[in-house]
Amino acid sequence: MAKEIIRVENLKRDFVVGEEIVHALRGLDFTINEGEFVTIMGTSGSGKSTLLNILGCLDTPTQGEYYLDGNSVRLMGKNDRATLRNRKIGFIFQSYNLLPKTTAIENVELPLMYNSSVSAKERHERAIKSLNEVGLGDRLNHKSNQMSGGQQQRVAIARALVNEPVIILADEATGNLDTRTSFEILTLLQRMHQQEHRTIIFVTHNPEIAQFSSRNIVIRDGRIKEDTYNSDIKSAKSVLETLPKEN
Ligand SMILES: Nc1ncnc2c1ncn2[C@@H]1O[C@H](COP(=O)(O)OP(=O)(O)OP(=O)(O)O)[C@@H](O)[C@H]1O
Ligand SMILES: [Mg+2]
Repeated sequence: MAKEIIRVENLKRDFVVGEEIVHALRGLDFTINEGEFVTIMGTSGSGKSTLLNILGCLDTPTQGEYYLDGNSVRLMGKNDRATLRNRKIGFIFQSYNLLPKTTAIENVELPLMYNSSVSAKERHERAIKSLNEVGLGDRLNHKSNQMSGGQQQRVAIARALVNEPVIILADEATGNLDTRTSFEILTLLQRMHQQEHRTIIFVTHNPEIAQFSSRNIVIRDGRIKEDTYNSDIKSAKSVLETLPKEN
């Protein structure tokens, strides 16, 4: 039996801008089970990032409920929410959000700094393991500004994975990358989904990416427009193999 990991009920988020209220999310209902790879699509301004930020406990809804692994996020204080986020969620952003002039290892160690049960030695070892998983074992001591966009995004993925999160949230994670590098990242995420059974929620503008996920939710104007399952998941790796090495 698949285990429910996310449930939202009548989720709403308003923003007050001057005299105006922006209804970014107008009442969403859905559940996501552990091990799903969900793409979230929709035009610019439809509410994708607003939703992802709430799911990632970076923001709270104006109305409605969000249960993360059975915990009502609404009822939690700021600190508990931060702890839950740190333990359960790995975030990947379009702009990588790495610390500048800081090595790959140091960037990946960061989420473990908040966990006092992890010693400095273990932190270091786990960061190396995580960087090896994303194929950056030979770039451990490179600083973020000494790496390509794709390499920086892989560091960000290693950082998202180092805590062994149940959920990986990605907001336009391939938005700044060329086609080949995008497929490298997608291949990596598919591997985490298929081999490690991780739950992935991947926000994107690109409708082609839905074929690589197991479920696609389309948002329009703060509401769910479509929610479809995909039984014929396309392999990003096989597409990658057809792409030329240089472009
Ligand atoms: N902090 C904020 N303050 C005020 N309005 C906001 C805020 N964040 C988002 N909005 C508004 O909420 C709506 C949804 O924004 P959101 O960033 O979720 O869209 P999106 O689907 O992620 O768009 P994009 O594809 O361009 O990233 C937009 O109308 C936006 O202007
Ligand atoms: Mg966005």
